[in-house]
Amino acid sequence: MSKEIVVSGIRSTGHLHLGNYFGAIQNYVLMQDTYDCYFFVADYHSLTTHPDPKDLKANVFRVVAENVASGLDPDKVALYAQSDVPEIPELYLMLNMLAYVGELEKVPTFKEKVRSHPENVNSGLLTYPVLMAADILIHKAVKVPVGKDQEQHLEMARNFAHRFNTRYGQLFPEPQVFRFNKEAVKIMGLDGIGKMSKSENVNATIYLSDDDATIRKKIMKAKTDQGPSEPNAEMPDFIQNLFLLLQLTASADTVTTFKDAYNNCNIRYGDLKKQLAEDMVTFVKPIREHATDLQRDETRLRKILKEGAEKARESSRKTIEEARKLIGINYY
Ligand code: ADP
Ligand code: TRP
Repeated sequence: MSKEIVVSGIRSTGHLHLGNYFGAIQNYVLMQDTYDCYFFVADYHSLTTHPDPKDLKANVFRVVAENVASGLDPDKVALYAQSDVPEIPELYLMLNMLAYVGELEKVPTFKEKVRSHPENVNSGLLTYPVLMAADILIHKAVKVPVGKDQEQHLEMARNFAHRFNTRYGQLFPEPQVFRFNKEAVKIMGLDGIGKMSKSENVNATIYLSDDDATIRKKIMKAKTDQGPSEPNAEMPDFIQNLFLLLQLTASADTVTTFKDAYNNCNIRYGDLKKQLAEDMVTFVKPIREHATDLQRDETRLRKILKEGAEKARESSRKTIEEARKLIGINYY
């Protein structure tokens, strides 16, 4: 039986962090044996914010290196750059004819960008969901592992697929949001404000590229309070976040010891942070070192991207030929 098709994109807009790792990449790694996976670096998407051409390539290579260092196997999945697959912008053009300006203007992520960057409301930003739909539909994906913030975009991808199918004939399945782990892990910033993120909250976010000293420093500065004043008290969310990180990186015994201390009101947050810092260093170090080695090996990265693009183009070419035929653009 053929495997179900999964597509997901990672924007190349900054350094990957623990939120990306536990919220996304870890699931990609778990999926790679069971599904037919297409994972790509969304470099065209990143152009909406006009990145400096000097930085673009290094950003793309770093995202690839950090994903591979986190366990993604380029022999098992198609790992590629969006801009290496010209069929994606071709499908984007076709879908744009089926996307209405009115519905695009109503998308919350677009409205948020208009509010936050009124000086750069370009039409690429407006049609971001159309390009995202093309990314997904080009492989006829049925499952798309993304966070909650992307659900609206997925709904639009389903609408565009449906519109294409009714106008021209059945071609696209309607893709669904997919969570490999039922419970979506959300990692808060260490300051207790918002989530760990690529570009905001830098001092409260642990990046896969942080060195040991930086990891220790950030964790030792994490927000805590006076500690519980009664046994088995409910944890504030920023303490829960520290326990979540401990659970994700430390041994079960360590977690139990600190949980018991919390429940018995004799927890010392300094000790908890010291322990967490060491477990986090042990966790991040091999990923960082592997990613650094890979980033020095441009030949290997280029090979990964080239082979990924070949796999992605094979599937894309078939879809675009079918789309052209259904639309009536097949002259010879
Ligand atoms: P960022 O907000 O850092 O730019 P993206 O929006 O590019 O990250 O998200 C890439 C993937 O990582 C998405 O699947 C998203 O759900 C996940 N992700 C991002 N930040 C977190 C976080 N703090 N906790 C859990 N998952 C996250
Ligand atoms: N918009 C997604 C994000 O911000 C990234 C993305 C682009 C994507 N194209 C995609 C995710 C296609 C899944 C499928 O995280």
